[in-house]
Amino acid sequence: MGNKFSKIGFILAAAGSAVGLGNIWKFPYIVGEYGGGAFVLLYLAAILFIGLSAFIAESFLGKISESNAVTAFEKMTSTRFKESTLGTIEEKSSTASPLWKYAGFMVLSGLVILSFYSVVLGWIINYIFISFSSLSTDVKVAEETFSSLISEDIFKQIFFHTLVALTVVWIVLKGIKDGIEKANLVLMPLLGVILLGLFVYAISLDSFSEAVKFMFVPDWSKIDEHALLAALGQAFFTLSVGVGTILTYSAALPKEANVVKSSILVTIIDTGIAIIAGLTIFAFLFEAGAESSGGPGLVFISLPLIFAKWGIIGQIISISFFVALAFAGITSAVSMIEPILLYFIERLDYSRKKAVLVCGSIFYVGGLIALLSMSKDYGEYLTFFGKNAFDWMDFVTSSITLPLGGILICLFLGFVVDKELIKSHFLKSSTERIFNIWYATIRYVVPTAVSILMLNKLGLF
Ligand code: PHE
Repeated sequence: MGNKFSKIGFILAAAGSAVGLGNIWKFPYIVGEYGGGAFVLLYLAAILFIGLSAFIAESFLGKISESNAVTAFEKMTSTRFKESTLGTIEEKSSTASPLWKYAGFMVLSGLVILSFYSVVLGWIINYIFISFSSLSTDVKVAEETFSSLISEDIFKQIFFHTLVALTVVWIVLKGIKDGIEKANLVLMPLLGVILLGLFVYAISLDSFSEAVKFMFVPDWSKIDEHALLAALGQAFFTLSVGVGTILTYSAALPKEANVVKSSILVTIIDTGIAIIAGLTIFAFLFEAGAESSGGPGLVFISLPLIFAKWGIIGQIISISFFVALAFAGITSAVSMIEPILLYFIERLDYSRKKAVLVCGSIFYVGGLIALLSMSKDYGEYLTFFGKNAFDWMDFVTSSITLPLGGILICLFLGFVVDKELIKSHFLKSSTERIFNIWYATIRYVVPTAVSILMLNKLGLF
């Protein structure tokens, strides 16, 4: 990672990673799928009691170890490291299992997520083009536009997926992360302003109260073990926790940075954007008389419908919205590939170019498989146990590998790394009481809750 972030640079980078398609594309559609209010409450609880603590843990692991994800686990189990950081600690031989270094392989999740993420980003680019020409005012037509893109326009999807993949590869190859961070400085506020504008408009609609009811009045009948795990998975996904992204960014934090404060800030921004996006999209959907359970096409159907009503102004807003969303997604995409690139570069001595080529090819092919798996012609060959490859990639990462990565980080900091070492770092950012609460959370609450939900889903609990 080379040079250090400034404090605000880190917050921007972490928020740029966290805020992405997870907030605006995925959150509303899974809320719709699981029936609204009860799911939102579970999601908020998962963010507050699990996601945030895991985020802080991942951030500390990066900041203290100052290294890539795989090295971080290795380095923190060695005694010498404890000595050199704290200075005063006596020499004790480390009893930690050498197996811990394998925990760093959570970075592999990044490539799987990127495979389907790149496809969705491709849809967004497609909608930028659609905004220039024809936005539909009719629900049926809007639904039709989306479903034909997914099931029939394979070449269009391959074209946009290729475009996205090349853009991501180009950014990480050039190492112009600074450049994208600067672009983010303009585009994230742009996305925020457009989203707020749409939200204010949504408030003026009759359907807004219905949207509020849908999002906040719980209907527990829709909640089962799938919903519980989905809410938990979404908390990890949206905060970018469990891949090594936050760890990688935190490794470049300046000494005086306040980890606890910046983690809370990023969590608030991320959650706020998801809730605002959800309310806006449901108000628009209900206004248009569309279904809340529209699946992955939800934002692509609901927003253009409203934009179309506003004529040329609507087209301009539509273009700006999808452009800003594309950038929010690109910064997230860059953040998920960076940890695995660092592994190749720092551990396997690859040049950045070779590492980018290898990782880029993997997620590019992964994306092809994901998009073909939704098509009419090839879907059946790429559907396993009732789920297509796209859904499998999403499910395996959000519901399994990310929460697992999160547990490993929490157990590692909670039981393996020297408590005094972590505490000395934590107290620079916060109080002893908060440290105690957080420490108990990462030792007991996160591992227990996550394991119960996973076993429960497998029907073993
Ligand atoms: N948090 C990102 C989003 O909400 C996705 C992401 C997941 C990014 C994991 C990095 C690592 O879109």
